[in-house]
Order: sequence, then C-alpha cells, then structure tokens
Amino acid sequence: MKERSVVISPSILAADFSDIQSALDLISSLGLDYVHLDVMDGNFVPNLTFGFKFIKDMRKHSDLVFDAHLMIENPERYIKEFAAAGCDIITVHKEAARHLNRVINMIREEGKEAGVAINPATSVLEIENVLSIVDYVMVMSVNPGFGGQSFIAESLKKIKALNEIRKREGYEFRIMVDGGVNASNHHAIVEAGADILVIGEAFFKSEDPEKFIEEIES
Ligand code: DX5
Ligand code: ZN
Repeated sequence: MKERSVVISPSILAADFSDIQSALDLISSLGLDYVHLDVMDGNFVPNLTFGFKFIKDMRKHSDLVFDAHLMIENPERYIKEFAAAGCDIITVHKEAARHLNRVINMIREEGKEAGVAINPATSVLEIENVLSIVDYVMVMSVNPGFGGQSFIAESLKKIKALNEIRKREGYEFRIMVDGGVNASNHHAIVEAGADILVIGEAFFKSEDPEKFIEEIES
C-alpha cells in the first residue's frame, strides 16, 4: 500500500448500484486502497441498502480493502457471514450491540479488523472500555442512514478527545470519520486527529474525482 498522509475510504452509497464495477474501478484507478460499504437494515437506521451477498459478489471483482460499516441491530447475528463475504474491516455501532465486547471479539476471531462506531449523540466515554481491543473508532459526523448530509461540527471535539485518549493510553486504534466530509472541512478533521476519511457524495458527485483526491491529499 502506498504511504499516505490520510486514508480516503470512498463510500459507494453515493455510487450507482447498478454499475458498481465502475465505482470500484474508479477508486482503484485513483490509487486508493479502501472502499466503504454501508450496510443498512431499515431498523437501526431509516434506510435499506445491501447485505453480504452483494459484498461477496463485489469481492470477486476487487482487491480493495473492504471497509464494512454495519448499521444493523444486533450485528452479532451476521458477523460470520460478513467475514465470509470478504470484508476486511467490520465496524459495528455501539448503539446497536447489546454485548459490544463480545461482538468485537467475534470479528477478531474471524481474523478481521474490528471497528466501533458512535452516533453523533453518543459520547466517547461510552466506548472507553473497548478502546484497547478495537482497530478503528468511527466517529459518525452525521446521523447515520443517508449520504449527502452536513458535517456536525461537534464531532471535531470527539475526534480530539479520542486522539488524546489514544496518546495518553498508548492505544493503537485508528480514527475514522464518516459523514459530510468534503474539500472544505477535511483539513480541520485531519488536524483534530482523524486517520481515515469516509467520503461519499463529495467524491462520487465530484466533477473531477482525481482532482478532488489530490486536493484532499495535498
Ligand atoms: C451515512 C453513511 C456514510 C455516507 C457518507 O449513514 O454511513 O458512509 O455514505 O456519505 P457522505 O460523505 O455523502 O456524507
Ligand atoms: Zn458509513
């Protein structure tokens, strides 16, 4: 993988699902390594997308790092299936998992990287007890469910707080930020301590995705 200052994980939620191959090819052609897969169950969030069958099919046509964001209630029911489908990173919501420690361990036992996501209204303190066992913390900077929403500025404080805890405790998790990230706010987000930026509409709806990525990475 190419050494990068910040990792961009484009979210295919903003792409054309009927031509997903073009979206995957676009991401690869720009030299990016990650693709963000938003799985929604119409219960935890008020929207539906796709499940592990779709991911399994994409896996045959892409070598990208599959970064799956499970916006589903009781994610422990399907960890094995998402792992078998070829996800590399599986992120679950703190708010959706009754036994968060157990589900994180399940992901790791499948040999996958584990992430925990927190909604805008959830405090960093609520995941303090799993910070030593996760590979990623995903700060949701919009209420999950839809692409194209505005970044909630309060999220910057949470990113900073996580960065401080990480330094203080010597933890190794990476900070992912998801929702409303664009060319005007990415600098402040990275400065606050983010390592991975999930970008949906700003990337796929950009007139020149290549230029957009250059701008973010510069
Ligand atoms: C929202 C999803 C996001 C979404 C981000 O629930 O988790 O990953 O695709 O899209 P933008 O960048 O358009 O806010
Ligand atoms: Zn997402």
